[in-house]
Amino acid sequence: RAAVIVAIDGPSGTGKSSTSKAVATQLGLSYLDTGAQYRAITWWMVNNGIDIDDPSAIAAVAGKAEIVSGTDPSAPSITVDGTDVAGPIRTQEVTSKVSAVSAVPEVRTRITELQRSIAAGAENGIVVEGRDIGTTVLPDADLKIFLTASSEARAARRNGELKGADVNATREALLKRDAADSSRKTSPLAKADDAVEVDTSDLTLQQVIECVVTLVEEKR
Ligand code: C5P
Repeated sequence: RAAVIVAIDGPSGTGKSSTSKAVATQLGLSYLDTGAQYRAITWWMVNNGIDIDDPSAIAAVAGKAEIVSGTDPSAPSITVDGTDVAGPIRTQEVTSKVSAVSAVPEVRTRITELQRSIAAGAENGIVVEGRDIGTTVLPDADLKIFLTASSEARAARRNGELKGADVNATREALLKRDAADSSRKTSPLAKADDAVEVDTSDLTLQQVIECVVTLVEEKR
């Protein structure tokens, strides 16, 4: 069996992470959360006082942080210069700043190289989730999935993860981040021409997982 490479892209709140982790676990594949890498470099920028509104300041230090991603789907991990940042990268502050940092071409070049080397090293195959995996990072992936869902479904799911948040505010923040990610010049959020689109609005997580597992098995 050759190492299968699966790219899962889509906007926020479509179930990419839950689906990707479960599929990788079920099929014995590695797992890479590329959003966590962009969040990690954003956390480093914030922590080092870099002006997020200044793309040239971000570009100048794009190569400074050492980001290491663990690829075990049952225990994903991420460190920056040896510090565990799994918690801090999920704060409101990082979430609101990540689109600006990830739009800077020098940041994308750096993180894309890291992603390709991790995928190349995954001997049993890998599920890589993000926004530009099928279009840019791994255009030769064996299977490309593009997950979508209505903005209402996405906001409701995200709100379930954030205790006590206002669903309308969550929806606004989510739409704002997707608009920024879709409109940036360098490798925007987009469906690859050869990706299978799955609308998850009316599916349970279990149904989405089964659908993707079936598609992967057809490719193996
Ligand atoms: O998936 P997650 O919501 O954690 O991603 C956080 C942010 O990282 C996205 O909103 C986007 O700005 C950026 N990102 C990206 N390319 C990827 C994955 C994430 O630009 N492949």
